[in-house]
Amino acid sequence: MNLITEGAITFETEGAFYNPKMLLNRDIGVAMAHSLGLSDYLDALSASGIRGLRVAKEAGVEKVTLNDVSPQACRLIEQNLSRNGLVGRVTCSDAHVLLHEQHFQAVDLDPFGSPSSYLSAASRSALSYLFITATDTAPLCGAHLNSGIRKYLARPLRTVYHREMGARILLGLAARELARLDKAMQPMLTHVTDHYVRTYLCVIKGAKAADKCLEKMGYVEHCPSCGSFVLLEKPQPGGECRYCAARTTLAGPLWLGEIQEAQAIESALNWKDLSRRAVKLLSTCASEIEVPMYYDHHSICERLHITPGKIDDAIERLKNSGHKASRTHFSGLGIKTDAAMPEVEAAIRPA
Ligand SMILES: C[S@@+](CC[C@H](N)C(=O)[O-])C[C@H]1O[C@@H](n2cnc3c(N)ncnc32)[C@H](O)[C@@H]1O
Ligand SMILES: [Zn+2]
Repeated sequence: MNLITEGAITFETEGAFYNPKMLLNRDIGVAMAHSLGLSDYLDALSASGIRGLRVAKEAGVEKVTLNDVSPQACRLIEQNLSRNGLVGRVTCSDAHVLLHEQHFQAVDLDPFGSPSSYLSAASRSALSYLFITATDTAPLCGAHLNSGIRKYLARPLRTVYHREMGARILLGLAARELARLDKAMQPMLTHVTDHYVRTYLCVIKGAKAADKCLEKMGYVEHCPSCGSFVLLEKPQPGGECRYCAARTTLAGPLWLGEIQEAQAIESALNWKDLSRRAVKLLSTCASEIEVPMYYDHHSICERLHITPGKIDDAIERLKNSGHKASRTHFSGLGIKTDAAMPEVEAAIRPA
């Protein structure tokens, strides 16, 4: 028997999938479940059950359902529940079916690879919250273009800001799936860590709210030559870069609305058991300005043939010239700002 301890749970993994590298993902999930005060939570793809077990025990969520299509995984979940003195409902269904049949206050999707096939049923099932993990970063971020188009009904683009591109392509599909059911979403926390995207959505019922939500969809016109980008409401055929005249390419449709909600994140930051890494990640997410995409400090320096100075100095210069600017958790080299490329270059160039 191979017993593992994670958080407040000691559990067995024999015969089910368990990835210790997802610890940070689960830690933050527990903090969010606790701060949102959930009372009813579905771990739709449970494997060993560790995610749902931790939400039940550490976040104190009363009604936890743990589902997996594998009978072997379900037996293991039953054992892991009783080993930890917990009561939970275990279901052995195809998640697509379960999500179409039943409603839950919060639905958590943590599949192998892409969550896209589950999103339609999960959007129906989730009454208040939808949490999604996607580990298929190659299709999401533009490295596998056709797969990205098939899975997310959008064209991703491999750019220096591909991590945020991936998050917004996923959010774009979620917004459209929810809208089909007259539901809107409000992202509370979105992070791209290691090789996965994770997002926590508040789900709001109402056709008007859904319409408003869809207004936040759009496109990114990107210049592969100078790295500048423009946000567009409607798609336009590839044009000419306004800064270097090179031919631009288009990504989308994707979510251009807010992806972080500082208040929700700060409330999760109160969770006593967060690791230092989680605190750093959440704090950066909370302080990110709400401007889609970011510039890459080093790529710009390389193109301008200048030695990179401090990113924080460039951010200060942008702020002093009246722009919004911040770091981003997506990349240690990233600068988020509402300034255009020439102003960013001026802020990066040594005085
Ligand atoms: C990535 S693992 C889940 C990991 C788990 N959430 C954790 O944090 O450790 C995906 C699980 O989904 C299950 N699965 C795959 N397809 C499914 C389906 N259609 N319905 C329900 N479970 C499914 C697999 O048996 C596997 O245990
Ligand atoms: Zn250009």
